[in-house]
Amino acid sequence: MNPSRSTPRRRRDARLAALVGVGALLVSGVAALAGPTPASALDNDLALTPPMGWNSWNQVRCYDLNEDVVKDAADAIAATGMAEAGYEYVVVDDCWQGGRGADGVLFSHPERFPSGMKALGEYIHSKGLKFGIYGSPGSKTCANRWDSYPILGLGSLGHERIDAQTYEEWGVDYLKYDWCDADVNDGLTHQAAFAVMRDELARLDRPIVYGISEYGNTQPWTWASDVANLWRTTQDIAPNWGSVLGIIDSQAGLADFAGPGGWNDPDMLQVGNGAMTIEENRSHFGMWAMLAAPLFAGTDLTALPSETLEIITNPEVIAVDQDPLGQQAHRLRHSTDSQVWARPLAGGDIAVALMNTGDSTRRITTSVDEVGGAGAYVVRSLWERTDLYNTTAGIWAEVPAHGTALLRLTPGTSENVPSALGVSGELTARPGVSARMPVTVTNGDDTPATDVSLAFEATPGVTMPASVVVGDVAARGRATVEVEVRLADDFAGRVEVPVRIISGEGEYSGALTVTALLTGDVYVSDLPWTGASNGFGPPERDRANGEEGAADGPLITLDGTTYDKGVGTNPEARIPFRLSGQCAGLHAVIGIDDDVAARARAGGITPRSTFEVYADGRQVFYTEFEQGRDEPTAIEVDIAGADLVELRNGLVGEPGDPDQRSWFAWTDWADAHVSCEVAEPVVEIGVSPAATTSGWHAGPATITLTGTGALEYSLDDDWLAYSEPVRLTDDGEYLVRARAATNGRVAETTTEVRIDSTPPDVALTADADEAVVTAADAGSGLARLEYTLAGEATVLDLAGEGDVSHMVDLSGLGGGVHPMSVTVADRTGHEATATIEVTVDPSGSVDDGANGSQSSGDNDSTGSEGAGDATGSEDAAGSDTSAGPARPERPASGEAAGADAAGSTPATGGASGLPATGRTWPPVAALSALLLGAGCALTVRRRVRS
Ligand code: GLA
Repeated sequence: MNPSRSTPRRRRDARLAALVGVGALLVSGVAALAGPTPASALDNDLALTPPMGWNSWNQVRCYDLNEDVVKDAADAIAATGMAEAGYEYVVVDDCWQGGRGADGVLFSHPERFPSGMKALGEYIHSKGLKFGIYGSPGSKTCANRWDSYPILGLGSLGHERIDAQTYEEWGVDYLKYDWCDADVNDGLTHQAAFAVMRDELARLDRPIVYGISEYGNTQPWTWASDVANLWRTTQDIAPNWGSVLGIIDSQAGLADFAGPGGWNDPDMLQVGNGAMTIEENRSHFGMWAMLAAPLFAGTDLTALPSETLEIITNPEVIAVDQDPLGQQAHRLRHSTDSQVWARPLAGGDIAVALMNTGDSTRRITTSVDEVGGAGAYVVRSLWERTDLYNTTAGIWAEVPAHGTALLRLTPGTSENVPSALGVSGELTARPGVSARMPVTVTNGDDTPATDVSLAFEATPGVTMPASVVVGDVAARGRATVEVEVRLADDFAGRVEVPVRIISGEGEYSGALTVTALLTGDVYVSDLPWTGASNGFGPPERDRANGEEGAADGPLITLDGTTYDKGVGTNPEARIPFRLSGQCAGLHAVIGIDDDVAARARAGGITPRSTFEVYADGRQVFYTEFEQGRDEPTAIEVDIAGADLVELRNGLVGEPGDPDQRSWFAWTDWADAHVSCEVAEPVVEIGVSPAATTSGWHAGPATITLTGTGALEYSLDDDWLAYSEPVRLTDDGEYLVRARAATNGRVAETTTEVRIDSTPPDVALTADADEAVVTAADAGSGLARLEYTLAGEATVLDLAGEGDVSHMVDLSGLGGGVHPMSVTVADRTGHEATATIEVTVDPSGSVDDGANGSQSSGDNDSTGSEGAGDATGSEDAAGSDTSAGPARPERPASGEAAGADAAGSTPATGGASGLPATGRTWPPVAALSALLLGAGCALTVRRRVRS
């Protein structure tokens, strides 16, 4: 055996050698990589969830493989609970073979498998498990090459039918069919060769799960669902974190190619092998579950440490892997330190993985929104198998170095866990200029959150305070604070700023979004790319494609014209970048770089590629370009309003042979730039109903804001997020401010709203010589005073006076009882009325009591009061019997002023249908007391005499 075998460099590298080496021979070898699409589809109804089991390779590799190892594994699966957890297939990998007999039938290695494969299959079946075996489509198996396995002729080439029949006879349930250079050794093409065995298996009576392996070299996810139940997407996994992480990274973007019956296979598990930490093992297993990957343990199951067994039998993690929806996780976000992945599960649940690729514990956050949810969820930790919190917004976990928090979100809320406080805030700001970001804390709980503060995680390129105090947030309420944010001069794109929400009741997490304002023409090569991919090497900024590392390509040159700026790619390429809706057009000159022309000619190849532009997932531009046939072309593509824009280059088949697809094209997006027009923010304030002609509203008014982007309003010093019309109910004068923020610019407008829902105050009294009308209106002011005495009406226009006293000369009145009533109206039309009866004795003088020296009850002047909340004091009301303030329509509740002012005196009916009381004259001084006691400001500013 050769334990020091290094990870093989496979076909991808051979393509590269072909390209770099310019050889026609190698190039035609490349052309041979692509074969015709197999005619029929795989239709075996197997592997509706990813297969699970054990495979010998990662445990014992080649020469240590024997039937006892396999039986031990089967025993252990049955004994440890692994079978209950779902592990089913016991797969004997390479090196089981002893050779082929004269009849062409394979036989097992006589020393290591003396009982033969049929017996081994029976043993495995006797344990209630299924039997898997290894084969190859060419002449050799991989162990021939990499482990110097000395027995030849073990591949199925030319023996496909007999091998399939042999497998059936042995009771095989699963075939791993491994490429092993069948193109180089035997001139085979992948799809066709794998389809041969697919068709042979289909002829059998026995269902056999069919897994193929060509290490992802021909992007099998694009074609293999017609061929196999699973297809390897990567080179061989090694038992170390670097290998595991590299594979995880390479699976981003493959999610939509897999599903029930056809799975991406990122290779078998190394959990329990090498020197990976428990967290690394969890990340490995948990991410395989997120990836809906086949789960094949590859470690010694007879000596499993309990922590390893716990990881690989965790039922809740396995349930994610085996979820019947079969939707593999998408990577939503990644940086050098963390990654966020999510996958929807059957029944509306969502699985979320927060992976810490950094070297120290960190809190990783995402949101319900980002993971594709809506509404409230219970967040459960699948490693701890406990519910953590309810959330409608933030999702987070403290994740140890190289660990992965696996969370399951279930719609609804749980009473057993706290409800998270949520935080939200978005800002698009011009780099280098300070801006204010409204940040809102939402409390979804039924109890208040106290002493809330926010701590912002330091984020490169973003300057903001370390923390702000929010204060208390009411139950089911929200509170908004403003935070000053400044983006670095060279900041581009968009970042999430993680936030800790700290309250007296707990600590929660969320994130804010900060986006750089884009103005004018911005080069695509100057924007951050969110997860770009390319054929050879990385896609290039301001250069044509290179082959290995960054910036190793020449300057972009199309038909002799060199461009300083642009993007250099090689199909298949994807260049996604975010514009947050700020740009209108994408401009570029597209073509295939001169650099590749000579080499392609020498190799007899015609470089071709598609050029495609996607705006928010929708294809908005497509063309096929062929070097030599097509001229470099200036394009202008409408991407107005798009957030995520993606440039793509795809493989194009040869005319008449679409499967002969050449990757041999250095595709240029020369001078690629986006034109970003900045839309000015707009905001307007609507007020309804309209004010009266006085400019005042006679009752409550409703404010409605319309405009662009996030709208806010303020009635005092605080700015509040505007989400729905705001009703102003209290009397007063409001300065309503509103603002809208779009693209880092702010528009502000104001309007005044004045509300007077309260009728004026009025009081009427008399002495021997004169009656005194006192009226006041603290809101819109007095418009009119009208009094009637001895059947004669007098109207005075008051034109907005705040308060008046008006004396009416009584000296001319004859003897008898004279009713007098007075009505005042304010400028919004509210009225108040007071009445008295002036009794003049036959001698012609007003009763003594009217002189103010009397206050007791035998006089017959009558006061009346309007209804409302004039809460005159008992004292004043009880002892004074003049016409007190009449406030018939005050909106707030309160004791009826009439009853209040009337004391025990019986009502006799009065003006406006309100109770009137027969009373003695009050002293004039007591009138003031009455008015003030009724809550009225009696400030005599002017006296009017008539
Ligand atoms: C290849 C496969 C491995 C294993 C070996 C056997 O390397 O990728 O999984 O099957 O062959 O030789």
